[in-house]
Amino acid sequence: MKIAVIGGTGLIGSQVVKILNAAGHEAVPQSPSTGLDLLTGQGLDEALEGADVVANLSNSPTFDEASPAFFRTTMDNLIGAAAEHGVGNVVILSIVGADLVPGLVYYRAKVLQEDILKAGPVPYSIVRATQFFEFMDATLSWTADDKTVRLPATRIQPMAAADVAKAVADVCVGPPLQGTRCVAGPDVFTLDELGRITLAAHHDPRTVVTDDSAGMFAAASGDALIAKEGAEIAKTSYREWLAR
Ligand SMILES: NC(=O)c1ccc[n+]([C@@H]2O[C@H](COP(=O)([O-])OP(=O)(O)OC[C@H]3O[C@@H](n4cnc5c(N)ncnc54)[C@H](OP(=O)(O)O)[C@@H]3O)[C@@H](O)[C@H]2O)c1
Repeated sequence: MKIAVIGGTGLIGSQVVKILNAAGHEAVPQSPSTGLDLLTGQGLDEALEGADVVANLSNSPTFDEASPAFFRTTMDNLIGAAAEHGVGNVVILSIVGADLVPGLVYYRAKVLQEDILKAGPVPYSIVRATQFFEFMDATLSWTADDKTVRLPATRIQPMAAADVAKAVADVCVGPPLQGTRCVAGPDVFTLDELGRITLAAHHDPRTVVTDDSAGMFAAASGDALIAKEGAEIAKTSYREWLAR
């Protein structure tokens, strides 16, 4: 199959490209650095030429109030072009529980991205993944100083980017789901606990202070970010990933 992987130079996209090509497909990375800008539509016709499937793994450059406009414009451009080119499956990667955290504008933007895809004329698949292990260092850095890292006790069920990429690649080569597949990591943590495990593994002497108002994930409560019944559970555990 020929698969255009938009955002194919990013953390998930680059791994999806590798998995698909290793399986004998023709996966082509597409992004601003290869000449495709999904915001302006520049390079989009060339990118979709002959594509059976498009995986859109692009990301907004910021997680703030600008993110809804990014996902709206990029999805409008993509769906219009995918319909013209007769693409058989448009796959996007969203976030488990995004609809349950209305206080986070970036999550609202991801729900908007899903809604635009569902309402459009092209066959589609939505993969929802939990937070990536690779995202943990950035999460710590937002609310850290020299001595402490402030984190809320938000419950999360993170997973390895490699497992996310595998789930996306599987969906790319299957029939359009016309729905959503959820994937999550094998263990549930509170974010402050995860911070302590991460700092200890890095021999970082800072202390984690539990602060339920700290950082982006303070907006999520209860089990909003935890996998629901029917989710696929990935194999790689956080401790195993940290030890690599
Ligand atoms: N972080 C999480 O825990 C999490 C959880 C679930 C789902 N997700 C979703 O997973 C997706 C992929 O995330 P990621 O971490 O792999 O992203 P990433 O590493 O930041 O990569 C973003 C990709 O988007 C491309 N891009 C940026 N602007 C573009 C534009 N205007 N047109 C076309 N491509 C553009 C970038 O291209 P260049 O390299 O050329 O700049 C890059 O390839 C995102 O949609 C995100 O919402 C994230």
